[in-house]
This record gives sequence, structure tokens and C-alpha cells, in this order.
Amino acid sequence: MATKPSDKKLAVLGAGKLGGILLRAYLKQGLFSPKHVTATVKHGEKAAALAKELGVSVTTANRKAVHGADIVLLGVKPQVVGDVLKEIAPELSEKTLVICVAASVPTSYIEQRVSARVPVVRAMPNTPAAVGCGMTGICAGAHAKAEHLETARRMFDAVGRTVVVDEKNMDAVTGLSASGPAYAYIILESLAEAGVKVGLPRDVATLLAAQTMKGAASVVLETGDHPALLKDAVTTPAGCTIDGIMELEEGKLRVTLIKAVVKATSRAGELLFEK
Ligand SMILES: NC(=O)c1ccc[n+]([C@@H]2O[C@H](COP(=O)([O-])OP(=O)(O)OC[C@H]3O[C@@H](n4cnc5c(N)ncnc54)[C@H](OP(=O)(O)O)[C@@H]3O)[C@@H](O)[C@H]2O)c1
Repeated sequence: MATKPSDKKLAVLGAGKLGGILLRAYLKQGLFSPKHVTATVKHGEKAAALAKELGVSVTTANRKAVHGADIVLLGVKPQVVGDVLKEIAPELSEKTLVICVAASVPTSYIEQRVSARVPVVRAMPNTPAAVGCGMTGICAGAHAKAEHLETARRMFDAVGRTVVVDEKNMDAVTGLSASGPAYAYIILESLAEAGVKVGLPRDVATLLAAQTMKGAASVVLETGDHPALLKDAVTTPAGCTIDGIMELEEGKLRVTLIKAVVKATSRAGELLFEK
């Protein structure tokens, strides 16, 4: 990633958990210069605390924050996106790139609420972005060109990996990789609990579980091998792993995970319409 700060002006509206993770990473990596960054939150006291921590302008005034910005990153909840767009629409033009990370919000929803031809990129990151290990799906709206997707890709590559998908798959990205860290933490916690059950100290059990999951994922990413083949390589005939796998099959781990992603994907399509 570039170490030279971009001379573009960035406004992060809704610097909460996810917006805050992205903003901290951009500042830490020098992707944007602090003097070119503005951010907003809802509560004044949070704005003051964040401004002090990050050394950038943080307020509750969305329209003011967006004035003169080249890139607007929308990090508010899906149900708030419409209200925020109403506030900032007069400041947006075809020269402003709008990147929205809100689940469930189609690019067309944003395009209908801003002036003609504003380029919009929809993005779905996840929280491991906090340690540079994020996974983000992005897609282009009707007026976003290759250069806009490239700008968004650079911003999400700075916190992990990025994949461009069709917009029709964005809810699926939400159900799999945006919600996915929660599923992984439950599996990891359960493995650590199991370690405690078979006599390991909790800190050792947690380390074994976490490094094992990280290692297994790294092998898939680095070799490109099918997970089933890699699983077979661990499973010695009449060994102990096959006994563990039989328990997983009996407990329906696979179908449970599949159903979790299917449920989260369908829920991802509903959020926008709730108040
Ligand atoms: N968390 C994830 O893992 C994840 C992953 C992918 C996508 N997302 C998406 O990211 C978005 C934010 O999620 P989050 O988990 O980061 O939620 P969050 O921590 O609640 O952040 C939302 C932020 O929006 C601020 N806000 C609320 N109303 C506002 C307004 N009118 N103007 C400006 N700021 C306003 C809040 O301010 P206060 O702090 O003052 O309340 C808060 O800082 C959601 O749309 C979600 O779908 C989240």
C-alpha cells in the first residue's frame, strides 16, 4: 500500500466500530493525511473523544464534514443512510466518490437520493480489518467507473483483501464474510473450551485453537487446495482425527454452518426496511 498520503479529502460519516477501524487504519498507514480527514458520529461527547484520540476533525455535522470531500465513506447503520443522504446530498457531485459499507443498502437506493451521476461503490468489509486481516467485497453502482472501484479497492486492500463481486451477491458476502468472524469466534471458543475439558490451561487451549484456525485458513489461501483434500491429509486411517470428524458429522456442524450463512444472507436483505 502507498505510504505517501493521498491528497484526496476523506469524510467518514458514522465513525463507529467499523468506520472507526477503517479510519484508524488509514491514519496509521498514512493513506490519508489527518488534515484531509473529517469524521462524524451522532453524539457530541463521542465526537470530542474521537477527535482527541485520532487528531482529526470529528463533529456531528454531516453536511459540514462532507463539504469539499473527494471521498465520502458512509459507516452509519442501514436505517440511518437515507437521513444522512438527505443532509449531505447538496454537497455531492459527480466528482465525489460515495463508498457505503452499510449492510442491505443497494447502490440504487443511494443514487436515487443524490444528484445525477454521483459515483457510488458499495462495500462489505469485516472486523478483522482492525488487524489488517479483513475481507471486503465491493461492487460498483451505475455511475462508478473502473477508477472509482480502484480507489475503493486500495482503501480496503489497506486493511486486508478485497474482491469485486456483482451487486446481487452483496447480501451473500454479508452473510458469509461480514458475519463470518462471529461464527469463527464461536468455533474457536468451543475448541478452546474443549481443550480445557481435556486438561489444558485455558490460555494454552485458546492459543492452540486460534493458531490452528489461522494456520488452516493460511494453507487454503496460500496453496489454493480444496479444503476437503487438506482435511484428508490430516485424517490417518483408523487414527484419532476420523473419530473427531464422526462427532462433527453427528452434530451436523456442516449443515448448521450452511444454514447460518443462508439465514444471515436473507436477513441482510431486510435491514434497510426496518426503523
Ligand atoms: N460491525 C461489523 O462487523 C460490520 C461489518 C460490515 C459492515 N458493517 C456496517 O457498518 C455500519 C456500521 O456498523 P457498526 O457495527 O460500526 O455500528 P456502530 O458502531 O453503531 O457505528 C455507527 C456509527 O454511526 C454513528 N451515527 C449514528 N447516526 C448518525 C448520524 N445521523 N450521523 C452521523 N453518524 C451517525 C454512530 O454515532 P455514535 O457513536 O455517536 O452513536 C456510530 O458511531 C452498518 O451499516 C453495518 O451494516 C458493519
